[in-house]
Amino acid sequence: MVPKKITTHSLQNMKANGEKISMITAYDFSFARLFDQAGIDVILVGDSASNVMAGHETTLPITLDQMIYHASSVIRGVSRSLVIVDLPFGSYQSNSKEALISAIRIMKETGAHGVKLEGGEEVMESVKRILAAGVPVMGHLGLTPQSIYKFGTYTVRAKEEMEAKKLKMDAALLEQAGCFGVVLEKIPALLAKEVAEATSIPVIGIGAGKYCDGQVLVMHDLLGINTEFKPRFLRQYLKLHEPITQAVQQYIKDVKSNDFPSEQEQY
Ligand code: KIV
Repeated sequence: MVPKKITTHSLQNMKANGEKISMITAYDFSFARLFDQAGIDVILVGDSASNVMAGHETTLPITLDQMIYHASSVIRGVSRSLVIVDLPFGSYQSNSKEALISAIRIMKETGAHGVKLEGGEEVMESVKRILAAGVPVMGHLGLTPQSIYKFGTYTVRAKEEMEAKKLKMDAALLEQAGCFGVVLEKIPALLAKEVAEATSIPVIGIGAGKYCDGQVLVMHDLLGINTEFKPRFLRQYLKLHEPITQAVQQYIKDVKSNDFPSEQEQY
């Protein structure tokens, strides 16, 4: 039986029915296929590719062309999950026309199902213009890594009353504009709860606590491929760096000792 495809409407229904939404990042065909077959609801082609795939310190350097390359690889591995792609830094901040052109490139050249961008009121004109073209948009508030040089650190956001108030207002604006969902990153759990209760659109948290309508994690963090990144919000479901290192060390040993390939492994 062909599994039922997840759409933005499925996510709205899941929220309405109290079913939590699972979301994970992916950047290539093979992992996207694994996650899709495992039953994940949403795959995010995050601009965190800049960190975990390209090794940059921030998400700022990744380009629209590079995001399109990752997203089109992911799409080829997916038959059921909803695939959302980050608009990278510099592809939507100048003006709404540029934002629309970038979103259209992503939709046309990758086959993805929607885009995500960071910010609230400041990017509202762009959000509306992309939505008016029929492209589903997801917001991203709280810790927005594309603004890291403005924040200065990756610490928890919106702990102060004024920032919390702006975040709530931005979430309401994104909902009114017609966004199908919003990611809340690294904010107090009770603030995320307030937002999730006040809005009808799904609120997906990362470091935003248990009251969100769903959760998202970066695949390399969840699978324990990186050893250095261990924030409090992260649950590592595997420690893949260990078996991968051991397997490659064994391979090196076998090659050096001429144990690999054996007679059975040659033609
Ligand atoms: O780029 C990304 O991986 C993200 C998630 C952290 C939500 O935006």
